[in-house]
Amino acid sequence: METEQTLVLIKPDGVQRGLIGEVIARYEHKGLKIVGMKLLQLPRDTAEKLYAVHQGKSFYDVLIKFMTSAPIVALAIEGRGAIELVRILNGETDPTKSQPGSIRGDFSINITHNVVHASDSPKSAQRELEIVFAPDERYKYHRMDEAILHPSVV
Ligand code: CMP
Repeated sequence: METEQTLVLIKPDGVQRGLIGEVIARYEHKGLKIVGMKLLQLPRDTAEKLYAVHQGKSFYDVLIKFMTSAPIVALAIEGRGAIELVRILNGETDPTKSQPGSIRGDFSINITHNVVHASDSPKSAQRELEIVFAPDERYKYHRMDEAILHPSVV
C-alpha cells in the first residue's frame, strides 16, 4: 500500500461539541500520522474552492454557510492507504448508513453537521491539501511506533 496524505476537516459542530481530541485520537490510534494541523475559520472563497465539486447541488449553500460559520480544525494525515482508511474511520455521509464505531456513526445524526470531512481520492487529497496547507505547514517526522506498525520495512 502506498504512503499517502489526506485532508481531514473537523467541522464546526465537531469543534463546538468538544470532539477535537476524540476525533484526532481515532486517527492516531489507528497508526496514522498527523503531519499538519491548524484551527481556522474558513474564508468563504476557500470553502467554495474546497467544495467546488458540489456547486449547484441542493445542499451547497447550506454546506458553505455551515462550514464558514465558526472555526474548524484542518488535519493533514499521512499513512499507508491513508485516504481510504480515514474514510472508513469517518463512516458514511448519510447518518442512517454510518456504522457504530465510525466517527459519524458514533457522533452524528445530521448529514451536514457530520463532524468530519475527508478527501475522497488521491487527486482530491492533493488538491484539498494544497488549498488548506502551505508547503511548509506539513512536516516530516517519525512516530516511535513505526517499527511495530510496519515491521517489514523498518
Ligand atoms: P463532506 O464530506 O464534507 O462533503 C460534502 C458534504 O455535503 C458532506 O460531507 C455532507 O456534510 C454535506 N451534504 C449535505 N447534504 C448532502 C447530500 N444529500 N449528499 C451528500 N452530501 C451532503
